[in-house]
Amino acid sequence: MSLREDIARVVIGERDLGQRIRELGQQIAADYAGESPVLIGVLKGAVLFLVDLMREIDLPVELDFIAISSYGGATQSSGVVRITKDLDSSVEGRHLIVVEDIVDTGLTLRYLVENLASRHPASLRVCALLNKRKVRKADLRLDYVGFEIPDEFVVGYGLDYAEQYRNLPFIGVLRRETDS
Ligand code: PRP
Repeated sequence: MSLREDIARVVIGERDLGQRIRELGQQIAADYAGESPVLIGVLKGAVLFLVDLMREIDLPVELDFIAISSYGGATQSSGVVRITKDLDSSVEGRHLIVVEDIVDTGLTLRYLVENLASRHPASLRVCALLNKRKVRKADLRLDYVGFEIPDEFVVGYGLDYAEQYRNLPFIGVLRRETDS
């Protein structure tokens, strides 16, 4: 059984992902020249993006991870946000870059940005691979964005449906049960 058989359409292919992530990495390296930022990966969706992005940042970066629960198994944002795994280290006085796979309603990120800001970092920016601007419920500034996408449910490259499809190397749309 092939995972790809469940995909109706590829939205962003491997080549486009790689090229855009290289650009983002170069931009971050230029913006943080002389600094050693901490990349904060938001588990689990941002993992593939984070590992590819960090390879394109020619700076001495550090890594930390935070896990936030918002969606559960559904495809709709519940708006319920809580930290299920906190950072390992203090980020006081550090330059932070939050790395997210997707910003949808923005509720997750708004909570995260407020929470991290209260820890007194030197600076705090957000790098999101995908941005669904149309469904925004929270006012947010995204400093680095890979792609603007329409409001459709996407999987792959870290993004899941009921914990599946994260390992697809591209972003795609699932086939509906009724599609043959
Ligand atoms: C996704 C994504 C963001 C959030 C965005 O995570 O990684 O954190 O939802 O949605 P919002 O802008 O509407 O708040 P999810 O809760 O699916 O967890 P996961 O990363 O473990 O898949």
